Amino acid sequence: MITQAIVRKPCNAIIKALTTSDMGPPNYQAALSQHTAYIAALRDCGLDVIELPADESFPDSTFVEDVALLTPQCAILTRPGAPSRTEEVVTMAPVIQEYYESIEIIDAPGMLDAGDILLAEEHYYIGLSTRTNRSGAEQLINILARYGMTASIVCLDSVLHLKTGIGYLDNGDILTSGEFIDKPEFTAFHQIPLPEDEAAAANSLYINGTVLMPDGYPKAQAIIEAKGYPVKTIDISEFEKIDGGISCLSLRF
Ligand code: GLY
Repeated sequence: MITQAIVRKPCNAIIKALTTSDMGPPNYQAALSQHTAYIAALRDCGLDVIELPADESFPDSTFVEDVALLTPQCAILTRPGAPSRTEEVVTMAPVIQEYYESIEIIDAPGMLDAGDILLAEEHYYIGLSTRTNRSGAEQLINILARYGMTASIVCLDSVLHLKTGIGYLDNGDILTSGEFIDKPEFTAFHQIPLPEDEAAAANSLYINGTVLMPDGYPKAQAIIEAKGYPVKTIDISEFEKIDGGISCLSLRF
């Protein structure tokens, strides 16, 4: 059961965050309001939320998910693949040390964004992307193996992160979109394919019985609700402008 989450307040510099979209920069005040609502939603799901202050040194620092993988046995500090994000780990490390005795790190030349890591039924899938290379993935596989956990590599075609296009819910149910629909690595799961124009909703989170999903994807919401999941939607439109999704905004453990 997940009991806690770590979030970081968006910084003013978020208007300069990395993006592949052409939606323009986020509105800072709107991003702050949406972030506050996101925290409230996590609390509604029963989580204690640890709120970190804004870090103006790193425009993307509100996307805390990428800098660590928090497992039941250990924490792994990643080595984010975008040069402007690599050092985000430095300010997260002392926070993680408050909660974990066993902390591992990914070393150069490894690159690893935890947005490329999907936990599905006790197994970690690691996407090879522009942010995560084979060295980073193999280091993670070796670390997890030392703690009795398993992981494997998934090659990505076009998404930014693995979890941009796929999300595990519960009981074998997995949200898929685009390149992940019928991808061999995931055919053993019960796939819930989402329409192409609502693919972003694949980045949803199952937390203690509720699916947190982005607002504005009515077809995906209806599909998930039809599977019997209670759904809570959150407006994260300002974060979507900079390639952010529901999972990117928190570290959960
Ligand atoms: N803007 C989120 C990222 O590129 O990591």
